[in-house]
Amino acid sequence: MSFNLDKITRENVKGLSPYSSARDEYVSDGSTMVFLDANENPFENGVNRYPDPQQRGLKAILAEQKGIKEENILLGNGSDEVLDLLFRAFCEPKQDNIITLPPTYGMYKVLSGINLVENREVLLNDDFQPNVEGILNTIDSNTKLLFICSPNNPTGNSFSTSIIEELLTSFNGLVIIDEAYIDFSSEESWTSKLADYPNLIVTQTLSKAYGMAGIRLGLCMASTEIIAVLNKIKPPYNVNQLTQDKAIERVLDIKGVKEEVTKILTERSNLIEALKAVSFVETIYPTDANFILAKVDDATLRYNQLLEKGVVVRNRTTQPLCENTLRFTVGTQKENESLINALKRLSK
Ligand SMILES: Cc1ncc(COP(=O)(O)O)c(C=O)c1O
Repeated sequence: MSFNLDKITRENVKGLSPYSSARDEYVSDGSTMVFLDANENPFENGVNRYPDPQQRGLKAILAEQKGIKEENILLGNGSDEVLDLLFRAFCEPKQDNIITLPPTYGMYKVLSGINLVENREVLLNDDFQPNVEGILNTIDSNTKLLFICSPNNPTGNSFSTSIIEELLTSFNGLVIIDEAYIDFSSEESWTSKLADYPNLIVTQTLSKAYGMAGIRLGLCMASTEIIAVLNKIKPPYNVNQLTQDKAIERVLDIKGVKEEVTKILTERSNLIEALKAVSFVETIYPTDANFILAKVDDATLRYNQLLEKGVVVRNRTTQPLCENTLRFTVGTQKENESLINALKRLSK
């Protein structure tokens, strides 16, 4: 494989001088200074100053926890912002293309539409694993990004390590492994392989296992060179102060996060058992995430009936390979009981 980052970076991005913010030009070392450089309101209220554009406090903790360097991390306003930055850094509108593997997370396609980049879809195989041959046949010299969601949303399964390895070694563009659900998975994160693959990008989020969907904090982990390109185009203050403070508090609470994940995994097993007893549930797919995909007799009918009973699930029936499927997020014990009670009342 001959991966060349310079070759796949957009020309305008290569030549770009990023906006230099006041907080970029003078980096505070914590000593007491008089800050008259950023046209801020001087009266302290906790958020009257611009936040650190490089989120150094939060990155230092994340880097240590993940066993990588701070220079290998870029943080975004949710992982959705990180994904958008990848399009803007590497894909020439109306010329380049990306590959996605439906059924999968819908934002890759939406972002390709927003950024005027062709989305080439290669369906997963019937076992919900990537179709390697199909992918390799679809790649051409304008293919810049390959999106791999593992564990995959909405199917719930993780992709085989050897398949991902094969794709990483045979594709000269960037392979993005979206690990939004990795903390629920029995598989190891690909972050430990960053040094082995110069074209590997791993994204994660605090929205799922960390219980922080409301603060919007996404992670992008990759080589120093890739992160440097993304830093050139990110908005200067893309992660606000309240998010940085709250994220630090949460990621330091390793025990609290683990306890919640353990509870969710126990609940997941209970929910799977309970779903097996529902007469119109035909297949429950194996899951490595905090949701369960199940095939039912008539997904739209069951979805609407559940809504009437006050339970909102996700109807995935229009997704390829997902006809008549519903996706159930694992909730609290009480919430899951509400779901199961509602389902049982329907089956009568
Ligand atoms: C696979 C996947 N990636 C990314 C996201 C978005 O995460 P964030 O909240 O960090 O933008 C989601 C949200 O549902 C997801 O399912």
